[in-house]
Amino acid sequence: MIYQHKPVLLSEVATALNLKNGDVVIDGTLGGGGYTMEFSSLVGKTGRVLSIDADELALNNFRQIQKTKGFDNVKIIKGNFRDMFDLVKPDVGTGLVAAIALDLGLSSAQLDDLNRGFAFSTDGPLDMSFDSNGIKTRQVVNKFSEAELIKIFRNYGEEPMASRIAKAIVVARRKSSIESSGRLVEIIGESLPAAYKARSRNHFATRVFQAIRIATNHELQALAEVLPQALRLLKPGGRLAVVSFHSLEDRIVKNFIKQESKDCICPPMVPVCVCGHLARLKNLTKKPVIANEDEIKLNPRARSAKLRVAEKLN
Ligand SMILES: C[S@@+](CC[C@H](N)C(=O)[O-])C[C@H]1O[C@@H](n2cnc3c(N)ncnc32)[C@H](O)[C@@H]1O
Repeated sequence: MIYQHKPVLLSEVATALNLKNGDVVIDGTLGGGGYTMEFSSLVGKTGRVLSIDADELALNNFRQIQKTKGFDNVKIIKGNFRDMFDLVKPDVGTGLVAAIALDLGLSSAQLDDLNRGFAFSTDGPLDMSFDSNGIKTRQVVNKFSEAELIKIFRNYGEEPMASRIAKAIVVARRKSSIESSGRLVEIIGESLPAAYKARSRNHFATRVFQAIRIATNHELQALAEVLPQALRLLKPGGRLAVVSFHSLEDRIVKNFIKQESKDCICPPMVPVCVCGHLARLKNLTKKPVIANEDEIKLNPRARSAKLRVAEKLN
C-alpha cells in the first residue's frame, strides 16, 4: 500500500450527499479513495462512482485497491476536474448525477512523496504539479518576475512578508537556479527575521509553499471552472459537497452557492431586474461544517477543513 490519507469530514460529507442505491456520484478528487469507497458502498451494485484525479499516484493506488477489494462500481478517470463535464461525458450527461464531491488540495501521500517537492519538511525536486510533469513549479520559482512572485505570495498565501521573500528568491536564483524544496525553504528562512519565524504558528514556509502550489496547478481557476459544470451535471435534488482548506477556496465556493441560490443577480443600482437569472441551488450550509475536536485530535489536517453543501433545485 503506497497511500496514506485519512479522509477529512467523511461521515459529514456522506450524510450531506444523501446517497441511495443506484445513484450515480462523482468524486472529483479521488486521492486515497476514502470518499470513493464510502460512496461505492452507499450506491451499491446498481450505482456508479466516477472518480477523478489528476495525479497518477492516486489512480495507481486505487487500481491496486480494486484488484484486491473489488469496488467494481467505481470507474477511475485520469484528468483535471476543471474538465469534469468532458471527463464524465462517456458515462453520464446533463442533469443525471445524484451527487458530486470535491475534497480540495493535497493528500498526505503526495506530501510524503520524496520524489516531489510539495512539502517543506522534506527535501525533494521542486515539483508541486498534480500531474507530476515537474516543469511548471520550477518556472514559477525561477522565471516569475519579482512583482509576480509578490502577487502570488500575497494573493494565494496571504503572506505578510511577500516582498522580502520574493526579493530573496530573485537574488538567490541569479547565482544558481532553485531546484529543490530544501533550497527554497533555506532561502525563505534566511530572508525572514528570527522573531517573525519564532512567532509563526505554522512552519515559516507554509504560506509560500501553498501559494506556489496554487499557482503551479491553477487551483483557484480549476475550482471556479468546475462549479458551474457540477451544477449542470446534477439532477434536481442532487447535491454538491465541497471541502476546502483555505479561505480563498472557501470564498469561491461560498460565493458560487450564494449567487446560484438567488433569483436576480443584477447590481443593486439596477431598479428592475434585467439579468433574468433564476436560482438553481438551495444552500444547505449557511455556515460551513467544520471537524469536531475528536477528528482534529486524530487528524490535525482536519482543523482547517470547511464543508459547504448545496442542493440543485428543479
Ligand atoms: C485531499 S485529496 C482527496 C482525498 C480523498 N477525498 C480521500 O478520501 O482519500 C485531494 C486529491 O485531489 C487531487 N486534485 C486536486 N486538484 C485536482 C484537480 N484540479 N483535478 C484533479 N484532481 C485534483 C489531488 O491530486 C489529490 O489526490
